[in-house]
Amino acid sequence: MTLPTRVKIVEVGPRDGLQNEAETISAAIKIALIDRLSAAGFRNIEAASFVSPKWVPQMATSTEVMAGIARRDGVIYSALTPNLHGFGAALAARADEVVIFGSASEAFSQKNINCSIAESIERFAPVAQAAKLHGLRLRGSISCTMGCPYQGAVSLDSVADVVARMRELGCDEIDIADTIGVGTPHQVQSVMQRAAQEFPIAQLSGHFHDTYGQALANIYASLEVGVAIFHASVAGLGGCPYAKGATGNVATEDVLYLMQGLGIETGIDLDLVVDAGQFIAAHLGRKAVSRAGNALAAKRLG
Ligand code: HMG
Ligand code: MG
Repeated sequence: MTLPTRVKIVEVGPRDGLQNEAETISAAIKIALIDRLSAAGFRNIEAASFVSPKWVPQMATSTEVMAGIARRDGVIYSALTPNLHGFGAALAARADEVVIFGSASEAFSQKNINCSIAESIERFAPVAQAAKLHGLRLRGSISCTMGCPYQGAVSLDSVADVVARMRELGCDEIDIADTIGVGTPHQVQSVMQRAAQEFPIAQLSGHFHDTYGQALANIYASLEVGVAIFHASVAGLGGCPYAKGATGNVATEDVLYLMQGLGIETGIDLDLVVDAGQFIAAHLGRKAVSRAGNALAAKRLG
């Protein structure tokens, strides 16, 4: 199959990237990061998460962050909303898109959102209805589609079942997430193709954590089967607090470098993303986890 000529990159650094940081990061720094990302050309930025602050303290500043960003026309700022409580906060904060997040693994569902998969779908139903009522975009995220830190293997049918339930809830887009980065290219193709039996492939995205260094290969494998939406985190930040040992998402700079090389348009300025990556890494006091980002930054120094 020929590769797509254009892809959509969803920048998840401000949410997935930062949610796992132990030190509290000020709202001002998060706002500066998001504004740098929108200036770089992203049309989709996962900016906030309206979850329990007891579960994920780092995201407690979400209302402040959403109020402080310089909104750019055409940019969709999204927020995680596990229940109606979170939805209310996201609506008040003027999120453009809300994300319900479930799992293909029962064990992970319990650890991450404290309920079974079936219960989670029941909780998501009113959120989905409210999103439609208020004209917000609705995205569904499915964790552990390539494997689970608690139960191990996850079947294709379990993934397909949650995809079908998210479709029934009216999701505009569904994320196939490799939470712990264990997937490999042929597996990813099988999962994507199975998911595509339940939901249009043009509205499926690949959300790959890079724990085992497979994320770029998995993105390429996904392109080969027609996936054209990918999530990435600037500077490779991140990890899920409820997925032990899982590292960040694939670094945005690396994905953009790959796309440039393949002649696939993203509409995003890689140089500005490198700047944003170096900015947040400097703030966190460590080197960015982006091979391309660090190489490009080093090259500038001559
Ligand atoms: P629960 O304890 O079962 O919920 O948690 P509850 O309804 O019994 O409420 C308990 C307390 O939380 C109450 O407060 C509620 O008010 C409060 P208390 O009376 O004890 O003071 N509460 C909330 N507060 C703020 N915002 C809310 C909210 N809801 C309840 N929305 C719940 C259930 C889902 C809330 C909890 O488990 C939770 O917040 N989990 C969040 C987990 C999380 O954020 N994980 C990381 C994001 S997912 C991810 O990273 C994966 C992804 O990247 C894809 C991938 O890579 O796999 C998306
Ligand atoms: Mg994630």
